[in-house]
Amino acid sequence: MYSLFLLFLLPETLGLGIPRAGRIPLADERIIGGTASAIGEYPYAVSLNLTLPEGSGLCGGTLITDRVVVTAAHCVTNPDTGAILSPKSVRVGLGSQKLREQRHVQALEVHAHPLFQPPVSSSDIALIVIDPQAPSLKPAAIYAGHIPPMARVTAVGWGMTSATGGFGSVPNSLQETELVVGSQKECREFVPGYESSDGPQICTQNKLLLGKDTCQGDSGTGVFITVAGSRYLAGLTSYGANLMGDPTCALDDGFGVYTRVSYFRSFIDSVASPSNKLAAEDDGAQNVDEVDDEEDEGEEENNVEDEEEGD
Ligand code: ARG
Repeated sequence: MYSLFLLFLLPETLGLGIPRAGRIPLADERIIGGTASAIGEYPYAVSLNLTLPEGSGLCGGTLITDRVVVTAAHCVTNPDTGAILSPKSVRVGLGSQKLREQRHVQALEVHAHPLFQPPVSSSDIALIVIDPQAPSLKPAAIYAGHIPPMARVTAVGWGMTSATGGFGSVPNSLQETELVVGSQKECREFVPGYESSDGPQICTQNKLLLGKDTCQGDSGTGVFITVAGSRYLAGLTSYGANLMGDPTCALDDGFGVYTRVSYFRSFIDSVASPSNKLAAEDDGAQNVDEVDDEEDEGEEENNVEDEEEGD
């Protein structure tokens, strides 16, 4: 029940190309329950076209330097053998929030976290190195602060927009939706070893914002937190289900699990620095936007790392 649900496989007929002449996506298409993101809002969001034994897979990722994409390890791991995909099998789509307008570049290196072991979902993080990209693809800054229960985060992705919609529901426009971080007590029932959303994973609960969730194809794509008006990368879509293990997206009693990026700082640094260097610059940040008034006492530090001033 805690195993990862596989990334979304595109049918062979779609190949790497998402259908050109498919139906025109409606403005209200969603992650599940989300909306199309405004153009240019997420310059660092990338899609991943993966060549797997079963066909082509769809995931997403986020540029954290001009040449390093962070994604979920399960996206770049062969589900049968556990082997990391070769760079040849990983193509990164970038330069547009519309899937069909993206350019594609081949991965140069693929690094999955050494502790990631399918089908177990912990340490679900990987880094993909590509050729350096233009500053217009401004890398995302990583959020290293406290994430309290009831915090609102924003997930983005090109995954299924309907829990039952299958291939037909892969949107052209990058979708976004708010999600709410779950209570420690309830998340503990779902996520093995969950202490809080300040550990290796962030758990969200669908019941706190009904009808909204990530879904197949969103894996690896970013979950963001807005602090003092700036958006930071906090998590990566990993998996979701309810306590019965039903992976259907957006169930009222469902949970979503996101890899907390800053927890894996040393892994990121081992790949992203010094040659693939992170543009680091701290930024004083205040409080996380929260739902209602539930706050937990204590830790006040909200460190934000790696703000990139880009263009
Ligand atoms: N593992 C899925 C993927 O590879 C993401 C599933 C998210 N599911 C959810 N109910 N939140 O795309």
